[in-house]
Amino acid sequence: MVRSRHIRLLLLPVLWTSHRQVVSLVGEDCELPCSVDPGSNVRVLQWSRPDLDHYGYLLFYRHPWVRSHYQHPDYRARVQPKDPGLNHGELSLVLKNVTHNDTGTYECRLLLDNNIGSKTTVYLTVKGKPGLSRD
Ligand SMILES: *[C@@H]1O[C@H](CO)[C@@H](O)[C@H](O)[C@H]1NC(C)=O
Ligand SMILES: *[C@@H]1O[C@H](CO)[C@@H](O)[C@H](O)[C@H]1NC(C)=O
Repeated sequence: MVRSRHIRLLLLPVLWTSHRQVVSLVGEDCELPCSVDPGSNVRVLQWSRPDLDHYGYLLFYRHPWVRSHYQHPDYRARVQPKDPGLNHGELSLVLKNVTHNDTGTYECRLLLDNNIGSKTTVYLTVKGKPGLSRD
């Protein structure tokens, strides 16, 4: 297993950051939003869960492919890029069949061809469906 800390160093410095809130229901597929200017060339994209430090990546892309060996096994069957080609600046991630355990903080970090890095922090809250679970 590759240690994520080493890979993260590639992405410094982060020049801009943004924050998003997402609310989803247990059992739904939710979209974790992240995007760049449509004309940008993405060299590296990392989706991670910094509040679970022992977890690897939800998704790791280095041009021109998604590198699934960097992906945490728990997420292999559960995530897919909203646009599988990561085209047109669309870097959102679909997380399938969410549970309460998915509530937490997610990060979309990316490095563009011009060496500009950015970070989008997504705060996901998963709520129970009425009659199906707690809260
Ligand atoms: C969603 O997850 C629950 C348990 O977390 C599981 O019982 C159910 O089969 C899953 N549904 C799908 C469509 O994968
Ligand atoms: C949620 O996390 C708890 C504690 O780690 C674990 O026992 C439980 O099985 C998890 N539930 C699901 C649906 O993954």
